[in-house]
Amino acid sequence: MESLNYDFVVLGSGIAGLTFALEAAAHGKVLVLCKAALSETNTAYAQGGIAAVLSATDSFEQHVQDTHTAGSGLCDEAAVRFMVARAPEAIEWLQQQRVLFDTAINETIALGLEGGHSQHRIAHVKDHTGLSIQQALSKAALQHPDITVFEHHLGIDLLTQTIAEEKVCYGVQVLDMESGNYKTILAKAIVLATGGAGQVYQFTTNPTIATGDGLAMAHRAGAAIRNMEFFQFHPTALYDPTSTDTFLISEALRGAGAELVLPDGSAFMQHYHPLGSLAPRDIVARAVYEQMHLHYSECLYLDATRLPEGVLQKNFPGIYTKCKTIGVDAAMELIPIVPAAHYQCGGVQTNLHGQTSIVGLYAIGEVSCTGVHGANRLASNSLLEGVVFAREAARHVAVSELQLLCTSFKSIVYSLPDNCSDKIVLKARKALQVLMWEKAGIVRTAEGLLEATYQLAELKYSLKHLQGYSAMVQEVRNLLTVVELILDACVLRRESVGGHFIESEPVQPEAWVQSVSC
Ligand code: FAD
Ligand code: SIN
Repeated sequence: MESLNYDFVVLGSGIAGLTFALEAAAHGKVLVLCKAALSETNTAYAQGGIAAVLSATDSFEQHVQDTHTAGSGLCDEAAVRFMVARAPEAIEWLQQQRVLFDTAINETIALGLEGGHSQHRIAHVKDHTGLSIQQALSKAALQHPDITVFEHHLGIDLLTQTIAEEKVCYGVQVLDMESGNYKTILAKAIVLATGGAGQVYQFTTNPTIATGDGLAMAHRAGAAIRNMEFFQFHPTALYDPTSTDTFLISEALRGAGAELVLPDGSAFMQHYHPLGSLAPRDIVARAVYEQMHLHYSECLYLDATRLPEGVLQKNFPGIYTKCKTIGVDAAMELIPIVPAAHYQCGGVQTNLHGQTSIVGLYAIGEVSCTGVHGANRLASNSLLEGVVFAREAARHVAVSELQLLCTSFKSIVYSLPDNCSDKIVLKARKALQVLMWEKAGIVRTAEGLLEATYQLAELKYSLKHLQGYSAMVQEVRNLLTVVELILDACVLRRESVGGHFIESEPVQPEAWVQSVSC
């Protein structure tokens, strides 16, 4: 098996992975691994934008408070303050990487509004902010002499050993998906930037790469994981029963004046929260879910006809065009919407430097749990978290005088699975997505969660003879691990809070102080 040596290896080429690579490359050779093409990431699909205090009427204190309110009081105070204070310089850094944010007439960055924000503070590039960021960072990384990129390379497992009673990570086993060869990569710091796990649910805004690989790898290696019960559902994915992809209708559209409405065109969110359609996302998603059930309706609607003439086409060209492809002229007609799984609030537990509980292993971006999101993430705080904590992790690896911690290692012998495994794996992947949507979705019940744990055990049993390490097989293994972590955390947390809502259980504010660790 081929063995390669770098100073730093980062798994993931989204906002977190590439930010880390670009910053760390000043201090050593960086290898970026990604299991798909360089730009096929959750980042590339981000629409609304990135939150930062950039106007004179706003303040760090208000951004901190909005983050806590959205997170139902479960956010980590130090982590939130750390991120919010570094947000303006994160935006500046992105501008230096040639991200051209939309500007207002006076040439300052134009700021949008999203749910849960008390101020306009969302920097954006029309409705394709993520794509613009991804393109700028990808270009910069490819041009950098000290960054090597391996596309279509799947991280399989972390290499760890125990030195002086401490677990250390010194490398990662990788499958080159094009040649079918396995490689061992050794490095002084191994950085997980593998994104989220929306693919555990039947309906999700996330692309197919979002299978929680890094989280499952970290768990297998023994890293601490937390807050997995808090999965965020976005209230407004485009309802299109003819498509298997789920397209997001950005919250920024509501920020610009669009309203959620019932099938008869009447607004209803004012009955749920004083901020109406711009309430924190967990509240809006549950309200949409409830009203769909009350009206026996397959979808609800977003009324963007209320926007001033031309604004939709000018500021939201991607959404306008997408709606047109399903025969909806959103400037004149209601947009059909449904909720969909969107964001993993929990993840691999880290400190402010991105360090996990394993020496030499870092986690940044959606795979990590820095504590900034608590029980429900504030809109547009995710891209921000990705940049801020990636830059901090890069600063930390540079000053930490890290060494390659591997004393000796035995190459693991991998093999490809047999051909008939694909069908079994695909069936299992679908079954677990349906299971999670039905039993651990927007509204959960204690009985449903228990049933889900039994059904998960059956699914795991049906796959116990699965051998070998193709991407498909490995992804389903990882999905099963993530599902198990979510269900365990759901069963442990008995009260409803943020993204974890149990129908029969009352909301218990006094119990909102501890977050669950797995
Ligand atoms: P990603 O961008 O998801 O990148 C993951 C990378 O890891 C990919 O390169 C992938 O190939 C790689 N990878 C995964 N597994 C492996 C493996 N086993 N081996 C090798 N590589 C692997 N957030 C906001 O703040 N504002 C928004 O407006 C916004 N809009 C969104 C809209 C949509 C439709 C979606 C889906 C999300 C949105 N989010 C938004 C959330 C935000 O986009 C993500 O949380 C963020 O981009 C995650 O970045 P990341 O770098 O952590 O991971
Ligand atoms: C959106 O544009 O609605 C998504 C914003 C986010 O997930 O932060």
